[in-house]
Amino acid sequence: MAHNLLKGKKGIIFGALDEKSMAWSTALRCVEEGAEVVLTNAPIALRMGEINKLAEQCNAPVIPADVTNMDDLKNLFTKSMEHFGGKIDFVLHSVGMSINMRKGRSYTDLDYDFSHKTFDISAMSLHRVLQTAYQLDALNDWASVVALSYIAAQRVFPDYSEMADAKSMLESVARSFGYHYGMKKKVRVNTISQSPTKTTAGGGVKGFDGFMEYAEKISPLGNATAQQCADYCVVMFSDMTKMVTMQNLFHDGGFSFTGVSAAIIEQMEK
Ligand SMILES: NC(=O)c1ccc[n+]([C@@H]2O[C@H](COP(=O)([O-])OP(=O)(O)OC[C@H]3O[C@@H](n4cnc5c(N)ncnc54)[C@H](O)[C@@H]3O)[C@@H](O)[C@H]2O)c1
Repeated sequence: MAHNLLKGKKGIIFGALDEKSMAWSTALRCVEEGAEVVLTNAPIALRMGEINKLAEQCNAPVIPADVTNMDDLKNLFTKSMEHFGGKIDFVLHSVGMSINMRKGRSYTDLDYDFSHKTFDISAMSLHRVLQTAYQLDALNDWASVVALSYIAAQRVFPDYSEMADAKSMLESVARSFGYHYGMKKKVRVNTISQSPTKTTAGGGVKGFDGFMEYAEKISPLGNATAQQCADYCVVMFSDMTKMVTMQNLFHDGGFSFTGVSAAIIEQMEK
């Protein structure tokens, strides 16, 4: 059900690859709530994915941008402002990729060239996006930026490998830039730490299905879905959360603060 929470707002959505993507559901929910959006993804993902289908549904342009390329990001923000005829009110950073994981290399056998790329795509990219917007003065006062994170930034999940370090940095960038952007323009910057969710990026983690089931069993509310993540993003982009900034917000059905659940104990006692 729509409540016009984003009526008149304009946003950029990074990272919609296919229908399973968190960014896909978020783009649809934002439009449903009255926003106009620009969609973006890496040029290669645009060729492989189905983003044009989403663009049609959202009546949105697609502007390619590799998040590791500053010229692409400048072009994205400049063209988006031209398209909207003004500045931007919200940004979703829904981007992540581990090259070492893709190549099947474990945390104790990392290739550091791959790691540089992983950190650039998955974490430094948030700084690149924010710095580009800051220097172009592309965001309106009280704009809201959300990046998607994972609890491996705080606790060890061995197969999440180097992405854990990338997420720690991502959350740190949100805090640090949140200070500067807050001081300058009241712009808020937060990360949402989402439950494991079956997407292309999520499915790339070894043992993902078993882990997802474990998280479902331990979380009092169960795992949060991509659609529920989209709902939370909408709230964070809305004026209802204007004083929330520099936070890592757990959206995980209670997983992060649960030690053990009755279902897990029962299973261990079998
Ligand atoms: N799926 C999960 O279990 C889960 C849980 C918590 C957080 N997250 C995070 O949510 C975010 C979105 O992931 P998802 O699960 O929807 O998977 P996804 O694979 O649908 O999205 C990842 C996106 O990153 C994009 N991307 C990769 N390299 C890029 C580059 N160089 N430039 C621009 N875009 C690039 C991909 O094209 C893709 O659209 C990621 O940050 C991910 O780490 C996912």
